[in-house]
Amino acid sequence: MSQTVDDPALASLTLWWRDMGIVADEAHIRAHGTARTVASETQAPPRKAPPARMSRKARQRTPAEWSQVAGATAAACKTHGELVDAITAFDGCPLKEAATKTVVFDGVQGAPVMVIGEGPGRDEDLAGLPFVGRAGKLLDKMLASIDIDRTRNALITNVNYWRPPRNRNPEADELQVCAPFVHRMIALNRPKLIIAAGAVPAKALLGSSSGIMKLRGTQQSLEVTGAGTIPLMPILHPAYLLRRPEEKARAWRDLLTIENLLQSLT
Ligand code: URA
Repeated sequence: MSQTVDDPALASLTLWWRDMGIVADEAHIRAHGTARTVASETQAPPRKAPPARMSRKARQRTPAEWSQVAGATAAACKTHGELVDAITAFDGCPLKEAATKTVVFDGVQGAPVMVIGEGPGRDEDLAGLPFVGRAGKLLDKMLASIDIDRTRNALITNVNYWRPPRNRNPEADELQVCAPFVHRMIALNRPKLIIAAGAVPAKALLGSSSGIMKLRGTQQSLEVTGAGTIPLMPILHPAYLLRRPEEKARAWRDLLTIENLLQSLT
């Protein structure tokens, strides 16, 4: 499919695209600044789904009250391990009732990079680990292209720990009750950089109404109690890139921006 590429940067870009099912050859990249795409990886976007059925315990408090409980619980956790246990034991998110597992994190505690996604899908719900399905595999490849790896230097989590019905986006009140745990995990791990994977975590963490196309690849910052101000970079969600492979050129540029930013932070 691709020709021999002499320029190391182009070679790396070509390999990365090829891994993701994009036809890329040097002449085409030089002529057009991007690769040709094949649509073999497309899949349907998530469908609308009914609200989650809450457990009797979850119904005993409002989301605002559960958020307060989560805040107090998270603040009492002195270690990452305590926090993981507290999240797993927490019953205040309506999504928990229908989920198979609580999906908290994967990767290296105290890692310089923290990747925060939207929430578990079917594969993650079964495995109990974030980003292990097709989108997760693509995320791993994207990160590997800039030498980031969940087994060495990254901690991976989500803004919501339970799979929403039919993979719909988490609702605002579901995110609200998880937010104190998310912030506490950041504070306890103190990453140098946060990567927000997709619109849902980018908007939830930044409290922004801007779209992901505006936020992606732009350096933002997040104020976290106990950890100060941490640079945050929104990127396109890998599941979106599976549906829209032609957007991978943008994702690649954002990864290079992250690589440069990380170098400047160390
Ligand atoms: N998508 C996410 O945002 N998070 C996961 O853990 C899996 C898929």
